[in-house]
This record gives sequence, structure tokens and C-alpha cells, in this order.
Amino acid sequence: MTKIRAAITAVNGWVPDYVLTNQELEKMLDTTDEWITTRTGIKERRILKEQGKATSDMGAKAVEGLLKKRGISAEEIELLICCTVTPDMSFPATSNIICDKIGAKNAYAYDINAACSGFIFSLITASQFIETGRHKKVVVVGADKMSSILDYTDRQTCVLFGDGAAAVLLEPDESGNGIIDSSLRTDGSGRAFLHMKAGGSLKPSSHETVNAKEHFVYQEGQSVFKFAVTRMADITLEVMKRNNLKGQDIAWLVPHQANKRIIDATANRAEIPESKVMLNVFRLGNTTDATIPLCLWEWEDKMKKGDNIILTAFGGGFTWGAVYLKWAYDTPEK
Ligand code: UT7
Repeated sequence: MTKIRAAITAVNGWVPDYVLTNQELEKMLDTTDEWITTRTGIKERRILKEQGKATSDMGAKAVEGLLKKRGISAEEIELLICCTVTPDMSFPATSNIICDKIGAKNAYAYDINAACSGFIFSLITASQFIETGRHKKVVVVGADKMSSILDYTDRQTCVLFGDGAAAVLLEPDESGNGIIDSSLRTDGSGRAFLHMKAGGSLKPSSHETVNAKEHFVYQEGQSVFKFAVTRMADITLEVMKRNNLKGQDIAWLVPHQANKRIIDATANRAEIPESKVMLNVFRLGNTTDATIPLCLWEWEDKMKKGDNIILTAFGGGFTWGAVYLKWAYDTPEK
């Protein structure tokens, strides 16, 4: 019997129009384009400026475009998983709100929070429903309005992140393509280095927490960097070795876009040349849950059916992981 695999059969992204450049940040903060570029690779990022718009609005746009591309209706979605660290509200789940906005009346939905590894964790969760035969159409959408939790006076953190959303559709594949293997990890002791201090049950919101700026991203960059640079490469190699893959066998490495130096270190250890690494951190910064599907969207027409693809991420938690998949379709000529 042929194994049913979960394959990505469509991908779509959405980013806001507003471009926040390093030059504009130079005017707001004690920073320079040179510092940001050499330390991170980032030149600009997109920001959702429109009043009253939230993560779900970006997610809904990404999913609407996804459905249009695949030629299916919102009613056909059986399950929608949204990964985000910037939900519209603490509850209900942002995935529920997206389903309401797009008219996915027959779907059930829930959110997954695994910070910057959220897309990979959600993809593997979603793939189980396809592999077991329970569902035939599952959407995973990564969406974050990082600008809503950034302190634009904190130069160490605010320069790193941007806003955006991207979604994939998972469907069954019996031709040998789709998601083949993965490794996912968490280490909760890493929370000390990357978290939001207040607004949860540990420290509910109060005048004091607002005054102390405790509703913003807190990151000890250097500590996170040290873990990210080793863990992301280690897990990528673990998945490659288990599947007898060498650097030359990989068509595309799709890394979480936090910092070009972390990406370079992973690609070097996996012996994958830069020409085979999807990289858009220059233009979009770190969009947290959206980085990997935004890359897939941007490189969609360069991937070929049967290509060996490795997705890899490291993020707050700590969380990290890698996925090996075979791309399942050729993009039709426009
Ligand atoms: O996606 C979630 C996971 N997160 C990550 O993967 C982020 C991992 N960390 C990083 O990418 C890097 O640690 C950063 C890009 C955040 C920082 O780079 P770094 O090379 O680790 O710099 P640093 O924090 O050690 O700071 C070096 C210097 C400091 O000055 P002193 O103490 O040496 O005088 C900082 O105050 O750079 C200073 N600095 C800045 N200078 C200009 C920090 N931020 C800035 C800035 N502009 N924006």
C-alpha cells in the first residue's frame, strides 16, 4: 500500500505596504544602517500601520489568496491552524477569527504557539491529520504583527522584526512527495532569554506593568544567538543524516529568517551553498511565524516537483526543529 503523505499543494503570502527602512530607524534611535546590516542582514521590514487591523487580517488575506490559487472555497477547509505570538486577543484563538473572516464555516481551528518555530511545529501537527486519513484539506497559516509588541525605543530588539503572514494548504499525496521526516525540540529553560514579561497569568496587566514596558518583546540577543547558531545547524544535520542526505542533495534550504549570520552558519555546516538558501531577511526582517511560508511563497516558481527541501527554525521557548519534505508540484507557467 502506498503511504499517504501530507504535501503542500499551494502557498500564499501577504505583507503590509509600509516599508520601515534602516534609514528611518536611524532617525528614531541611536543606531545605524551599517550596524543593523552587518549584525543581522536586515535592510527593511514591513509594518501594519492601519488602525484597527490585527494579525487575523493579515492571516485572512494570506488564506484568501491561497484558496483562490488552489481554486477551492473556504467551506472546503476542514481544519485551520494559525501559529502566532501576537494573537488578536488572548482568546478566542486567532485561527477562529480568521475562519470567521474568510467564511470557513465547516472548519474547526486552533492556534499553536511555538514562537519562531511555530510554522514547523504547526506543519507537523497538521500533517498527522492528513497522514491518518482524517482530513484532506488542512490550512496552516503563520502570521505575526510583531510591531504590536515592540518597544520602538529599544534598539536591541525593535530593529529585528517585521509584520507579515503566509499560508500553506496540506493535502494527501501518494506519489512519494510531501513531508517525509522531522525533528522538533523544546527547552523551556530558554524562556529566561526571550519572552514577554507581563500580560499572562504570571503577571497580569496593570498600570505598573505598562509603565515598566513589560508588554514588549524582551530578548537577551547574544544568549539567544549562541543557542540558535548551534541548535538550528544540529537539528538540520540530524534530519539530513537520518535520511542519507548530503548538502548536494538539497534543492533548497528554507531557514527561519532571524539573522543572516545564523542562517549562514547552518548552511555552512550542512554544506549547502548560498545559492540554494532562501533568504529574504534583507527585505522583511524577522516576521516570527511567517518567515518560512513567506520564503516558500516567494520561491514557489523556482521549486520543482520532487525537490528535496529542508525547513529549519529556532525560536523563543526555546523551540527548534527541522523538516524534510519533497516538493509536490511544479508552478504552472504564467
Ligand atoms: O527569532 C527568534 C530568535 N532570535 C534570534 O535568533 C536573535 C538572535 N540574536 C541576534 O541575532 C543578535 O544577538 C542581535 C542581532 C540581536 C545582536 O547582535 P550581537 O552581535 O549579539 O550584538 P550585541 O547584543 O552583543 O551588542 C553589541 C553592541 C552593544 O554595545 P556595547 O555593549 O558593545 O557597547 C549593543 O549595545 O551593539 C550595541 N547595539 C546596537 N548598536 C547599534 C545593540 N543594538 C544596536 C543597534 N544599533 N540596533
